[in-house]
Amino acid sequence: MKILICDATDASAIATMRAAGLEVDVRDRITPEELPEVLPAYDGMVVRSRTQVRAPLIDATPNLKVIVRGGVGLDNIDVDYALSKGIVVLNTPAASSASVAELVLGYMFAMARHIYETTTSMKAGKWEKKKFKGDELGGKILGILGLGNIGREVARRAKALDMTVIAYDPYVTGFKDVEMVSLDEIIARSDYLTLHLPHTEETHHIISTPEFEKMKPGVRVINCARGGVIDEDALYDALVSGKVAGAALDVYAKEPCEGHKLFTLDQVIGSPHIGAATEEAQGRVGAEVAAKLIEFAHQNRF
Ligand SMILES: NC(=O)c1ccc[n+]([C@@H]2O[C@H](COP(=O)([O-])OP(=O)(O)OC[C@H]3O[C@@H](n4cnc5c(N)ncnc54)[C@H](O)[C@@H]3O)[C@@H](O)[C@H]2O)c1
Repeated sequence: MKILICDATDASAIATMRAAGLEVDVRDRITPEELPEVLPAYDGMVVRSRTQVRAPLIDATPNLKVIVRGGVGLDNIDVDYALSKGIVVLNTPAASSASVAELVLGYMFAMARHIYETTTSMKAGKWEKKKFKGDELGGKILGILGLGNIGREVARRAKALDMTVIAYDPYVTGFKDVEMVSLDEIIARSDYLTLHLPHTEETHHIISTPEFEKMKPGVRVINCARGGVIDEDALYDALVSGKVAGAALDVYAKEPCEGHKLFTLDQVIGSPHIGAATEEAQGRVGAEVAAKLIEFAHQNRF
């Protein structure tokens, strides 16, 4: 079975696939223009979030049998269209959950103790000991919107910090470790609100002006899910008004984004979509991609 690796993939995973007899070519900087020329020679492709797999590309690749997304979100693949053409679409649902959860915790600590501002102050040669009074995470209420793989990893860690954890997820039942509440309740009660939902029509701007209005003054918001789940203009207004005391963002409505207006505000800290970018997560993603492709090849007698 011939596989084209279209985005950066762990070297040991590539070695594992080759050792299992798969023919693997790495073109991890391939352009959208080159893909329709090159891909028809392959049975499978591996993508991360960079490569877009849209209907016209699928139409141009009649031999394609499997698409593997190293990572969680499938928003860069026209999944239904691929399935309608008999192409199998696989991903690595839990491989990066712990890394994203740790980033969320890091952001909560950073906001509670003003770590970004204190560092900026120290680098400017200042000693502003009185300026930076923080607060503890222990005893605060953490609201988790979307209690899937990442939401649960965040919940487990937050409970170890003595936070009260509440969650809203209409598709989760019988999960006893966390108090499940309504959307209205999570918005009204949370001191920290972290989002861990997919971006769908239903979740688009699930947090917007009406929700910010109902939040506790001084709430802090973290989004390491997908940009579209928060209305960025409404977040900007809520930060400027002081209703939201801080926001930490790893994902944006449009990516890549440079010169984003939210980053003109001191209360905003963030990163360029690096939630899964750890040594460990990359290793697990690669291992799962390799295992799934090898299993697919065996099942389909390649
Ligand atoms: N920042 C990063 O680098 C990074 C890395 C991995 C995943 N992600 C993103 O994080 C998000 C969560 O990933 P995951 O692995 O936990 O996914 P998951 O599928 O395990 O969990 C998502 C949860 O959201 C819930 N949900 C769906 N619609 C909802 C709604 N309307 N209201 C409340 N809950 C709803 C689902 O029931 C599910 O439990 C996804 O958007 C994913 O793309 C980001």
